[in-house]
Amino acid sequence: MSAIRIDDLTCAFGDARAVDGLSVTIERGELFTLLGPSGCGKTTLLRSIAGFNDVASGSIWLDDQRIDSLPAHRRNIGMVFQNYAIFPNLNVADNVAYGLRARRVPGEQIAARVEKALQRVRLPGYGSRWPHQMSGGQLQRVAIARALVIEPSVLLFDEPLSNLDAQLRREMRVEIRQIQQSLGLTAVYVTHDQEEALAISDRIAVLRGGRIEQMGTPQEIYRTPRTPFVAGFLGDSNMLSGVAGDFDGAATPVRTCGTTIAVPGKVAESGARVLLSIRPEALRVTEDSRVPSLAARLVLREFLGEIQRLHAVLPDGTPIRVSALGAAAIAVSEGSSFGLSCDPSQIVVFAAP
Ligand SMILES: Nc1ncnc2c1ncn2[C@@H]1O[C@H](COP(=O)(O)OP(=O)(O)OP(=O)(O)O)[C@@H](O)[C@H]1O
Ligand SMILES: [Mg+2]
Repeated sequence: MSAIRIDDLTCAFGDARAVDGLSVTIERGELFTLLGPSGCGKTTLLRSIAGFNDVASGSIWLDDQRIDSLPAHRRNIGMVFQNYAIFPNLNVADNVAYGLRARRVPGEQIAARVEKALQRVRLPGYGSRWPHQMSGGQLQRVAIARALVIEPSVLLFDEPLSNLDAQLRREMRVEIRQIQQSLGLTAVYVTHDQEEALAISDRIAVLRGGRIEQMGTPQEIYRTPRTPFVAGFLGDSNMLSGVAGDFDGAATPVRTCGTTIAVPGKVAESGARVLLSIRPEALRVTEDSRVPSLAARLVLREFLGEIQRLHAVLPDGTPIRVSALGAAAIAVSEGSSFGLSCDPSQIVVFAAP
């Protein structure tokens, strides 16, 4: 395993910069996830690490070796592609052996290494099967075996689970995480799926326009987003506009939607216009008129099994979403009004744009 260091990397297609002066160090043995909207440069970054993309400027290092001008087959990096890229005209063993043959590994070693890689993904003895005889989840594991067989020091995953159904995705992400941890691999993982990113990553980088908008552990990114973009992209977030009052030494009162919420710390200058980011799960349906509460009217209720999602509006028309566990919200009927309290420590305050 190796650490990956990317220094001021730019990748361009014509005039457009798909990756724009990006720097990051990915630690040994870490699973590092790139998350961001379509077109933000995730695949381009991955492909430039693997050696399938030209780099306009900057450098890429594996430990102390500079690799950005090496051909892909000399980088010792495995990549799992979004569509698996399994060859339909080769059986499973030959698919897995592909990278070994490309690296001119002696023929007598190939069978044993292929079988070892298939064992690692829990497909022992499947070498003679044909791709059309395998399920989607099994094919995904063949793709992982093919990346593992070269014993890479780094493994790259480009949306590896996007073709699978929801249940298989949840199972496979755990398998990928276990394989990555048991082999101690350094991995860079691209996904569109926020829950997947939160579930398996050591760290996440949220990309926007070819740059890193924020980087940190899943908890840091989720609980303390630094920009409204990150708050809105990772998880759901209600954005309420408000005006800050005088900091009283402990908290800043923020006037918003007919109530005043004391947000811990000095979050803004007095009189400043702010945006409050409040996660749906930080809100509680309340009967208690002593706690500062937002008056809301229920528009629609979604029953989602373990939680209910309430879609409501505040008196000024601002929509607000609430996640309530099981029975807590059951008494509120559609069209009726109710109070919402929120835990001030879970509010993140941004300067209003
Ligand atoms: N071969 C190419 N030629 C021209 N432009 C390209 C090429 N590949 C990517 N781009 C552009 O570079 C930008 C980044 O693309 P990239 O594929 O890295 O995005 P992405 O974050 O992986 O998106 P998605 O989530 O949709 O897969 C996009 O604007 C895209 O149109
Ligand atoms: Mg992509």
